[in-house]
Amino acid sequence: MKYEELVVEYEKLFHSKNVRVFFAPGRINLIGEHTDYNGGNVFPCAITYGTYALANKRSDRKVRLYSTNFPAEGVIEFDLDSLDYDERHDWANYPKGMLKYMKENHEIGSGMDVLFYGNIPNGAGLSSSASIELVTGAMLESLFDLELDRLDLVKIGMRVENEFIGVNSGIMDQFAIGMGKKEHGILLDCQTLQFKYAKLNLENRKILIINTNKRRELAESKYNERRSECMQALADIQNVLNIDSLGQLTEQQFEEVSSVIEDETIKKRAKHAVYENQRTIKALEALKHQDLKKFGELMNDSHRSLQFDYEVTGIELDTLVSAAWEQVGVLGARMTGAGFGGCAIAIVEEEHIEAFIENVSKIYEEKIGYEATFYIASIGDGAREVKEGVHI
Ligand code: GLA
Repeated sequence: MKYEELVVEYEKLFHSKNVRVFFAPGRINLIGEHTDYNGGNVFPCAITYGTYALANKRSDRKVRLYSTNFPAEGVIEFDLDSLDYDERHDWANYPKGMLKYMKENHEIGSGMDVLFYGNIPNGAGLSSSASIELVTGAMLESLFDLELDRLDLVKIGMRVENEFIGVNSGIMDQFAIGMGKKEHGILLDCQTLQFKYAKLNLENRKILIINTNKRRELAESKYNERRSECMQALADIQNVLNIDSLGQLTEQQFEEVSSVIEDETIKKRAKHAVYENQRTIKALEALKHQDLKKFGELMNDSHRSLQFDYEVTGIELDTLVSAAWEQVGVLGARMTGAGFGGCAIAIVEEEHIEAFIENVSKIYEEKIGYEATFYIASIGDGAREVKEGVHI
């Protein structure tokens, strides 16, 4: 899709050419999975796939939204003064939630016509929902000259997810999408929200995103189940230690107290949360010393922990990742995001990418019965306004 084509589409729908264009990326997480809601560290980055919003203010209080990704839903219309969740409004509840919460503290003076277009692979676990939240936020901020801290926008996005949509997710996705920086990962401590950018110099390698193309059934309920298992583990440990989150524990501290967790499954979940957090800190250290081999090994350990202790991978992700590990020129590979389907990532030497795709593709299709899809990830900037001529 080209910028100009979207403007033509906008004009057809809303009879105006006078638009401003905004973009928010999707994200991948390099390491630090299921640690954000445990007060641990994460290490995500924004990618150059994402969601575009073409927008213009109206003179009345109507809000009209259209997505080229959901043409069957048509133009969804509601009033700026009536912003409750409405099942019939389907995908448009994400921008609607942003409007509702931003309006609480900021003057949004009129309605608007907005066309959304997303090029994040569908249902791939690359955070298309946080992307549409943040593109809406950046759009409202600019259209109505609002004074907002980026972190506030990130928090509003998370609130939409938690309170408006009802998914109990952590802050990683909105943070990566709001704060992303070209060619950098973000090491974020989710307890304190302190963060550092870390330049990703992968030398002669690229990050591949591999989509399992598996429908993410039960993902939300399993996600919430893992969260409550971790809460249970924390409550057990709090009987003997004064801590606020699993992220505060070192591996050794965990091993010393883990016997207070009676349920073996819950113990495994907590073990993942603690060890994964420490792995994330070690991964940043490795990157600081340009020890890419170590970084790759930590990624591989992360996947094994998500497979055996946290149990959020499934046959599709495990097949992809173990096939990736067998290939020449692979630094590391793991699932990324919530799991239960979605995507894996692999860091692969450029000269071996072609063979990698061919081999992994074949192994996956033979075992799973349908194809995986491969994308090369570029690490880009966070949510912002974009100007004419950008490649969409
Ligand atoms: C989803 C959630 C994030 C995070 C990841 C797992 O992407 O939205 O908050 O918990 O899963 O790391």
